[in-house]
Amino acid sequence: MLTKYIPPKGVLLEIASGSGEHGVFFQESFPSITWQTSDPEESHRKSISSWIDHHGLTSMMPDPLDIDVEKRPWPIPNQIRFLIKGIVCINMIHISPWNCTKALFEESKKILKGNHFLMLYGPFFRFDKETSESNLVFDQSLKSQNLLWGIRQLERVDEIAFEHGFEQEKIIEMPSNNLSVIYRLNS
Ligand SMILES: C[S@@+](CC[C@H](N)C(=O)[O-])C[C@H]1O[C@@H](n2cnc3c(N)ncnc32)[C@H](O)[C@@H]1O
Repeated sequence: MLTKYIPPKGVLLEIASGSGEHGVFFQESFPSITWQTSDPEESHRKSISSWIDHHGLTSMMPDPLDIDVEKRPWPIPNQIRFLIKGIVCINMIHISPWNCTKALFEESKKILKGNHFLMLYGPFFRFDKETSESNLVFDQSLKSQNLLWGIRQLERVDEIAFEHGFEQEKIIEMPSNNLSVIYRLNS
């Protein structure tokens, strides 16, 4: 689904890249752009670097950045920052406090321009859709690990997006009761 959102060139910034397995897949899928990974956990950044190395992508993919969405400004070198055309954040907002979602939109707004997009991927609750049993169980397990975690209500995320100058453009249903949600800056 990302294919139609990827620009012909430039940098896509991935927030919360985790192991890095997705990052190398996307870099190989979209060789004309630069996929810039990031994660605040040092062990995750080491894993990302190993995946980059293992796939022979060191000449295409920069080292992962140490970005914690709440620590602002995000440490992005200027030669990368000015080329960013979109931001992708997969499976983070339910596994971090709500303030991280706010920080994600707040800082993304400073980086993105024009019709650049911010994409969120993960499970969401929606007022107009019945919640799957698996997402209810997942939400409980997240909250049992950390009371500040949990599946987010999409309409609340949209509100935060709107407060930071973004509009929800599209919801794309994904396997296993996940969604991709595309936001764009209001023009
Ligand atoms: C469930 S993992 C998702 C990793 C990967 N995107 C995936 O889907 O496999 C959640 C990730 O969010 C990162 N994370 C947690 N809090 C964060 C924060 N405040 N800023 C940026 N990333 C954060 C964690 O380090 C972890 O890599």
